[in-house]
Amino acid sequence: MSEEKAVLSIGGKKIEFPILRGTEGDVAIDISKLYEEHRMTTYDPSLANTAVCKSTITYIDGEKGILRYRGIPIEQFVTEKPNFIEAAYLLLSGHLPTREEGESFRQRLTNNELLHENMRHNFRNVPTAAPPMAQLSASLSNLACFHREFLVLDDDDAFMEVSAALISKIRTIAAFIYRRSRGLPYIYPNPNLRYCANFLHMMFSIPYAHYEVSPEVEDALNLIFILHADHEQNCSAATVRTVGSSRANLFASCAAGICALWGSLHGGANVEVMQMLDGIHQGGISPEDCIKMAKDKNDKFRLFGFGHRIYKNYDPRAKILRDACDRVLASIKDTTNDPLLNIARRLEELALSDSYFIDRKLYPNVDFYSGLLLRAMNIPTNMFTVMFAIGRLPGWIAQWKEQHDLVGGRIIRPRQVYMGETETNFTPIEER
Ligand code: CMC
Repeated sequence: MSEEKAVLSIGGKKIEFPILRGTEGDVAIDISKLYEEHRMTTYDPSLANTAVCKSTITYIDGEKGILRYRGIPIEQFVTEKPNFIEAAYLLLSGHLPTREEGESFRQRLTNNELLHENMRHNFRNVPTAAPPMAQLSASLSNLACFHREFLVLDDDDAFMEVSAALISKIRTIAAFIYRRSRGLPYIYPNPNLRYCANFLHMMFSIPYAHYEVSPEVEDALNLIFILHADHEQNCSAATVRTVGSSRANLFASCAAGICALWGSLHGGANVEVMQMLDGIHQGGISPEDCIKMAKDKNDKFRLFGFGHRIYKNYDPRAKILRDACDRVLASIKDTTNDPLLNIARRLEELALSDSYFIDRKLYPNVDFYSGLLLRAMNIPTNMFTVMFAIGRLPGWIAQWKEQHDLVGGRIIRPRQVYMGETETNFTPIEER
């Protein structure tokens, strides 16, 4: 049987390319030898149509609105209610943990939950109004100074240890950033609490006062973290892989991922959504006018929380969060008549029946409803993207490891089509 090939005809010459088929039927034309053999490259701005790796971590079918972690549909993470740490372990190792594996991983997290005291002092030197994402990225990078034993990772045990350290410490760092911004005393982690409860304790406890973590809030936070845990080759994951491909360490690579996530077209969209809903509510703008602005090409305004590079259908995470909003918000506080939730629902209703959004297949994404839940948990808006980062960290680590373990893996280095000056002479300063 002849091997399947794609054929490109150019300048009277026929060039053949191997075809790569993914396990879910994706078809990719392998052009990796095109430059080497024919001195030609492909042009794909924003890498919108380029697979940069083979991956076994997360599968998305954007047309059908499917998302799976290691083959498991995202909806099963809602019905089966695993702990975020189980989902993290699944992403990192490729399988759900047994009881023993889960216990040992949790123990590693507990052992790593404190920060070096000198690191805590670092928070003192930044202005209290400093953007939390800047501090988060700097702090992750800074972990490399305190854990030099993990700068080179060449065995799986060290990898699981540093993964647990990162996943545990990011939560302590995030809570300390928040406490510092409010002038509140730092609250140290409590080894007896589960992951989300421990985070809430560090965020909201007051020394010597009893603090009870609400089970509804803990569950909702667990759900939010799981829904954000990985999303294949998104901007931040691609950043982590690119930085890691130079053999940069895991701390530096994840710190770079945080910087990529910060942008308003990516993780920063959850802040924009909340500001947009607040703006509509406070400023007396109607949802109808907001939709008009989003469609106006002369207006820079976009309907934040809508649209996705991959999903051309409802983002399954948004569907889950929309349903969770009703359920969770009602149990956390009396939000049956939350004006921002009502505005969000009206915007969704208007957009889903508007030809601009229908023609472009623009649906709510994960950021559209997550902020409403976070706000109900008293998480301030400027911490929303930090929450996204805590959730996404296991995905970044898994992506970094996959890149790191590639046999014969090369540094990621895209090409360009040069459109500048052809060769020209240097002009001495007196002749310019
Ligand atoms: N509001 C209004 N118009 C939009 C929107 C939106 N939210 N999103 C896309 N469009 C229009 C866009 O103007 C373009 O129209 P035209 O074809 O007439 O030029 C068309 O839809 C295609 O958009 P694009 O910008 O080429 O799509 P993209 O794949 O490059 O960008 C996106 C994807 C998510 C950056 C974009 O949809 C967007 O800016 N959405 C708002 C920001 C947001 O919610 N981001 C969170 C994404 S999900 C979580 C995450 O990744 O962090």
